[in-house]
Amino acid sequence: MKVTFLGHACFLIETGAYSILTDPFLSGNPMAARRAEDVRPTHILVSHAHDDHLGDTVGIAKASGATVYSTFDLNSVMEQEGINFSGGNIGGTLPADFGPLKLVQAIHSSGLAGGIACGFVIETDGRKIYHAGDTALYGDMAFLARENIDLALLPIGDYFTMGPEDAVEAVKLIKPKQVIPMHYNTFPPIAQDPNEFKRLAESETEAKVVILEPGNQIRI
Ligand code: NI
Ligand code: MN
Repeated sequence: MKVTFLGHACFLIETGAYSILTDPFLSGNPMAARRAEDVRPTHILVSHAHDDHLGDTVGIAKASGATVYSTFDLNSVMEQEGINFSGGNIGGTLPADFGPLKLVQAIHSSGLAGGIACGFVIETDGRKIYHAGDTALYGDMAFLARENIDLALLPIGDYFTMGPEDAVEAVKLIKPKQVIPMHYNTFPPIAQDPNEFKRLAESETEAKVVILEPGNQIRI
């Protein structure tokens, strides 16, 4: 499958049959590699309701007919907009048609009163991808090692999420085969050198770190 970085926490995961878009913050994102009008996914995963994650979800879902997945707290917003929505909660696995989608903990706020942020373990086409959403480092990331993650998408920007050094600790706990850093350099407060993260992570763990410029992709 093809995994394309569209900037910030937005990735497009394309298998033969499905295209899964994560946290589609494209409009107003200075690092965005695509315009929202040019993305037509089959599914959209939203980790939480902050603008830099919910982003263009409503417009893209309406234009594409994509089903949106998130925590249940987004239900009323999606219902009002008439969007197909599947809302679970932390620890639950949702039976998406591309494969099982597990909602996992993210230590963060949600952007909705009483809501909760999440990360995702996406299983599709024989691969497992962990999208961490916005999160701090936390010890129970060690449970993700049991998932045998092929690719982890981890924030390294600091300020709103874990920074590079904590993200290296996260790699030690999660033990993914590959890592793509995200959620950095979009705005001045989250300026980071991804090469320094790569150097540290690859010297202290077995994982391979792939730095993607927005618009670039890997195959896994
Ligand atoms: Ni956030
Ligand atoms: Mn964020």
